[in-house]
Amino acid sequence: MLNLSVLNESSFDPEKLNKYASIMCCGNGYLGVRATHEEHYTLQTRGMYLAGVYHRAGRNETNERVNLPDVLGLELYLDGENFTLLSGEVLRWERELAFANGELRRSVVWRSSKGKRYRISSRRFVSMDQLSLIALQFSVTPLDGSAQMRLSTGIDATQTNSGRQHLDEVSVRVFDQQYIQGVYGTQDRAAEVVISARCQLDTESESWFTAKNRRLNCHHSFEVEEGQKVTFEKIVWVTHRSDKTLSQASFARNNLRDLTAHAAKGYDALLEMTACAWENLWQASRVTVCSEHPEDQLALDYAVWHLNTMMPAQDERCSIGAKGLTGEGYKGHVFWDTEIFLLPFYLFTSPQNARHLLRYRWLNLPGAREKARRNGWSGALFPWESASNGQEETPEFAAINIRTGIRQKVASALAEHHIVADIAWAVVAYWQATHDSAFMRNEGLTLLTETATFWIARAIDINGRLEIHDVIGPDEYTEHVNNNAYTNYMAWHNVAHALQLMHHFERKDERFEQAAQNFLERLWLPQPIQAGVIPQDDTFMSKPAIDLSRYKNTAGKQTILLDYSRTEVNEMQILKQADVVMLTYLLPERFTHSQCLANLAYYEPLTIHDSSLSQSVHGIVAARSGEVASAYQFWQEGAAIDLGGDAHSSDDGIHAAATGAIWSGVIQGFAGVTVVDGELNLSPLLPGQWQRLQFPLKWRTAHLNIIVENQTLMVNTTEPVTLTVWGETLTILDSHTFTVDDFYLAVHGTATTRGEA
Ligand code: BGC
Repeated sequence: MLNLSVLNESSFDPEKLNKYASIMCCGNGYLGVRATHEEHYTLQTRGMYLAGVYHRAGRNETNERVNLPDVLGLELYLDGENFTLLSGEVLRWERELAFANGELRRSVVWRSSKGKRYRISSRRFVSMDQLSLIALQFSVTPLDGSAQMRLSTGIDATQTNSGRQHLDEVSVRVFDQQYIQGVYGTQDRAAEVVISARCQLDTESESWFTAKNRRLNCHHSFEVEEGQKVTFEKIVWVTHRSDKTLSQASFARNNLRDLTAHAAKGYDALLEMTACAWENLWQASRVTVCSEHPEDQLALDYAVWHLNTMMPAQDERCSIGAKGLTGEGYKGHVFWDTEIFLLPFYLFTSPQNARHLLRYRWLNLPGAREKARRNGWSGALFPWESASNGQEETPEFAAINIRTGIRQKVASALAEHHIVADIAWAVVAYWQATHDSAFMRNEGLTLLTETATFWIARAIDINGRLEIHDVIGPDEYTEHVNNNAYTNYMAWHNVAHALQLMHHFERKDERFEQAAQNFLERLWLPQPIQAGVIPQDDTFMSKPAIDLSRYKNTAGKQTILLDYSRTEVNEMQILKQADVVMLTYLLPERFTHSQCLANLAYYEPLTIHDSSLSQSVHGIVAARSGEVASAYQFWQEGAAIDLGGDAHSSDDGIHAAATGAIWSGVIQGFAGVTVVDGELNLSPLLPGQWQRLQFPLKWRTAHLNIIVENQTLMVNTTEPVTLTVWGETLTILDSHTFTVDDFYLAVHGTATTRGEA
């Protein structure tokens, strides 16, 4: 039995309504439902999203993931007084999300302003077993005499994305005095959503239904004795479609039929089914750590839970947005975050999901080709932000400057081209970890050659060498530079692997081959200068540096932009996030440990970590280079992005990439998992606070279970596997224990644990 963590919200804090609505958001990859309270609070942002449902609300907008009609809101009157925690008194409060089965629970004892006490509890979950299903139980017990109650809930289509309404109400219906149904269509008619719910109260009541102003509601009025608990149960079924093969009536009927069949099982049986589905996911992906700090295990369970709830495994036309399915942030758009920060988790725990994410890019190749062509290049230029197709979705302008009335252009779509090489990097990583030839022969090679073709067209000849000009690297505080090291090295890696895999799969294309060879021979790769430091770009080293400690103390808040304009920031050595260090993380084979350390030492003081995609990367590079004490500190800071204070606001959704990085920090950092010459290497070095680390890992066809403790690494495998652990290469048939030897320690100065932290 896995002893999984529980995420607690220790008190009711109206300031934190949205943070907890995001971090406790429940989902299953198809559907995400924010953890908002049933009762209404003005500042609370409700949210329910379907992975593939996007729509553009107006001329100056981009496509965004539609915030669907709300199904969890509930209005409760207790002896004539509206239940809200903003009045009366909260005498007891418990709220928790149980990672074992995904159940979100709350129990409150509330004294109304009239002085009567009531116990109010709710439980709910989004099913991992039936992707369309949400279940809610809401109970009330009067504690001081009998009570007159009124409860109203339904389907509320007044929900918007911050005021932008995407849906038309097509129809609303009531069936058999207990089922309600709403049919909605996006205003462009591209998608239809059907929501049905069964509402049941376990006591006699006067009940009626209303439909007005986009709200379909059922109401119950009833009397309850002191100490008697009444429970209201709502089972909801949500489906959508973009193909119109069925008539709308049949589509809606099918939705109701499926709801009826599942609701008949009741809340507890449905919860049992989702718990079984979760158990399988945990078996395949849980990381356990024995640490002096119990919050380390919580952070890992938190990360793995969200990584499982954001994966749209049911539909490969969908990928993962920067906030998963937990909020409206970044409009549900997909960035490089997915391939670089999330894909490694899937690659090593559920490779079919990594394949799925790459198929999403493959399906969107037409848009990427079109973007390259429009800009005068060949090959595929993937959009910096994308939604349900390959179209560029980055907003053209950032927020308005309300003093000047001027909107600043967003440059990412124009120049943040490294996403092309990032996708190619993920294809290569997928090939190395799976040897999935069927994928490579078709989607993989196409992705690699189209992206390589883009780089070949993108580079320009400057005095005999090829250079890549006018780009933005991962560090978005430095715009429009030439020869960003990250971009050039990653582009080289992209073209080199395209060529190598073309040979491997015996594909002949002489023109491509010649062009690729020429690119590889002549592309300028910025070389290390003083003590191994690689210049971030052509002009970076000549810019002045300032003391950033003040801004680093408020990392995540972008406070530097309050004191300096973006143009001024651009002219100084200031990094928003890991850039050259990011490169040494992604291509560890190309750099020695001392080069990695030199770049970390140089760039760390210049990096504010204003992006959530940063500290963790510095941490992984530190861990791999033996700097485990600082690696642990970076890892903890990364884990605090959603779970800690409010440096990075999670109000409009969790930081999906940061959850990937919590996992990567442990597996690729402390466990030292890397792929060298296409083969799996581990070189664990645990923080002094950790006594033991255990995790599952998939590699090719083998399922490995790895335990690191007391300077040993134990592997169990389902199939023979060749591994290099602490420099020793072995083929393991079923299990083996490696022990770090003194020679390795002398050379690398590392061990499984070191008490220096
Ligand atoms: C970061 C990008 C990232 C995006 C979405 C930005 O703040 O600078 O690297 O892709 O957020 O997470």
